[in-house]
Amino acid sequence: MNTIIDLVVRGGTLVESEWQGLADLFISDGVVAAVVAPNTPPPVGSEEANVIDATGLLVLPGGVDPHCHVGFTSGEYTSLDGYEECTKAAVFGGTTTIVDFAIPRDGEAPLDVARRQRAKADQGVCDSALHAAVVEWDPTVPEQLRTLCEEGIVTVKMFTTYRGESMASTDTILRTMQVLQDVGGMVVIHCEANAIIEEDQRRSADANELDAAHMAQTRSELAEASAVAEILAVAERLDAPVYFVHQSTPKVVDLVAAARRRGVKAYTEAVAHHLVLDDSKYLGEHPERYVCCPPLRSRETVDGLGQYLFNGEITTIGSDHCCYDSVQKTEYKHDVRHMPNGLPGVETRLPVIFSEYVSKKNLSVSQFVKLTASNPARANGIYPRKGALLPGSDADFALWDPTEEWTVRSSDLHMKTDYSPYEGMKLVGRPVTVAVRGQVVVADGILRGGANRGRHVPAGPVDLSIT
Ligand code: URP
Ligand code: ZN
Ligand code: ZN
Repeated sequence: MNTIIDLVVRGGTLVESEWQGLADLFISDGVVAAVVAPNTPPPVGSEEANVIDATGLLVLPGGVDPHCHVGFTSGEYTSLDGYEECTKAAVFGGTTTIVDFAIPRDGEAPLDVARRQRAKADQGVCDSALHAAVVEWDPTVPEQLRTLCEEGIVTVKMFTTYRGESMASTDTILRTMQVLQDVGGMVVIHCEANAIIEEDQRRSADANELDAAHMAQTRSELAEASAVAEILAVAERLDAPVYFVHQSTPKVVDLVAAARRRGVKAYTEAVAHHLVLDDSKYLGEHPERYVCCPPLRSRETVDGLGQYLFNGEITTIGSDHCCYDSVQKTEYKHDVRHMPNGLPGVETRLPVIFSEYVSKKNLSVSQFVKLTASNPARANGIYPRKGALLPGSDADFALWDPTEEWTVRSSDLHMKTDYSPYEGMKLVGRPVTVAVRGQVVVADGILRGGANRGRHVPAGPVDLSIT
């Protein structure tokens, strides 16, 4: 090897999605130059290399959060973070790439909105990719989608709900899938059947039960299952890939898994709060702080969903981060139809899942890496640049102490909000040093260097061989 090495990570246990073992990392100019046996001397000329001692720590590829809303507008409300704040919180939680959304409003062109949002990536502390979105079909959409794919935005978010805001018709969803399948792209879709949701909400209104304490009944499991079944049928008819965001019940994961066994290229994302928190939160002091779509489900459903992390039926874990604060969550807590939906979580996604599933339920660390970094990168066309520590990958890593015990306190977190859905939860394991492209950005609980180091990561075709 003739490359001059400028950073060596020594003594740690490197964990990839398919492998783990003692290994050192040689890093050159922000990229992994080599993965070598412990204590291998760096090549001649590398005498100035910095060395990070990772003894006793796990060396994980930085997390890739496939579902992260930055400055997201819904109804009257816009979530409170920009790229700097969101990515700062991300790196404190061990995530080094986020995938945000560019959602058109009021007839805006998807291409314009995506270009505008993409330009914000440079404000970040870490890198980001982007999902475009289609709401309304018009004759220019196919060309816009082809241009987006050429420009490295290959995933397109669609919604079967939120009438009057971002809901697309089944016809529009089918046509969008059809265009994307020819250009290496994929629809990523929020599935809840809007007609059933509106009926759920009418019934709750009749019973005077539209407040946050009754959130779970206002968006039924049936609504989710019905929309997933319809969209799977569309994808199967076209032989087009489809990725279901925030699937919240074993039933819908089963529908996707069964379709995959028939050869449909269909993938399941679960999000951290559906894997950990249950609907008893709606009976507590602040039910409004847990209002999200789909809502939190019963404990039995949460535990059932979690089982699918072990057998590969869930493809990725996202955060569905929406950084509203307690004031924004409170104003309409008497009527969830007008509330801002979504929970802050970009910083807690990895520690909460590590603690609840790796530390407490023996999920392997490799499977954790697969679900939270490698598969999200594959599904978004940015693997192995992101989501891996292979020669040529960006040197984005989290040195993880698997034994550290700590308690979630929103005042210790970095998200631009004043509450955490996990407040008071005792966790085991956390990232202690985090680097983005070979630059340490977090060490000893402190941010080293600030904004304006992030870059948009252009995506190639999505990897449809994900398992
Ligand atoms: O409640 C949620 N999930 N809000 C964010 C928008 C979405 O549906 O993903
Ligand atoms: Zn959604
Ligand atoms: Zn979302």
